[in-house]
Amino acid sequence: MEIHILSVLPELMESPFNHSILKRAKEKGLAKIILHNIRDYSSDRHKSVDDYAFGGGAGMVMMIDPILSCIESIQAEGPVDEIIYMTPDGERFNQKAANQLSTLNRVIILCGHYKGVDERLREHIITREISVGDYVLSGGELAAAVVVDAVIRLIPGVLNDETSALTDSFQDDLLAPPVYTRPAEYRGWKVPDILLSGNSGAIEKWRHEQSVLRTKQRRPDLLDES
Ligand code: ADE
Repeated sequence: MEIHILSVLPELMESPFNHSILKRAKEKGLAKIILHNIRDYSSDRHKSVDDYAFGGGAGMVMMIDPILSCIESIQAEGPVDEIIYMTPDGERFNQKAANQLSTLNRVIILCGHYKGVDERLREHIITREISVGDYVLSGGELAAAVVVDAVIRLIPGVLNDETSALTDSFQDDLLAPPVYTRPAEYRGWKVPDILLSGNSGAIEKWRHEQSVLRTKQRRPDLLDES
């Protein structure tokens, strides 16, 4: 999967993708993340990427031309499956959307800044708008990093144990069950006996029960959705 990220602050995006699972995905050639500085596509001598809003009001608006030039240069190299704009008024991101996106080959993610992008880009060019939650970040970069992380770990071969993404919270609209490691007892706090029993059928059943219980207690809305 090839992910192109368009930003006015590409430096902000370098670190999240250079560690752990995402780094391994890149090294294995399963994910390629290409950062583009929108400013490099500005045609004026000041390299401007934003301008005042028509009609007045505080805050600058990101201009169409540098963004569209960047998008078109990516499209010139091959088809793009989705052009995503990170924005708090987009569809709320969830595991289902992550699963869907992980099946795509080439995507563009546009990170907004200031008051946002010129609406005409959203009308004519953007194919999907995603929010990571009902709060406003200073820019779309951290939101894009969240989406890219959630998507890349789902690409087959990225996680060592193929089943481990399937048992994540939300994968079947259930939260994950509690997990424990050694020692079996610490300051009198004991690991549930069932997990030490060696009875894999009983353990699986217990985990499922715990998942359902936890979901009922913490996120009953997930049970309503399924
Ligand atoms: N940009 C600013 N806030 C955001 C949010 N909550 N989700 C996605 N992009 C954003």
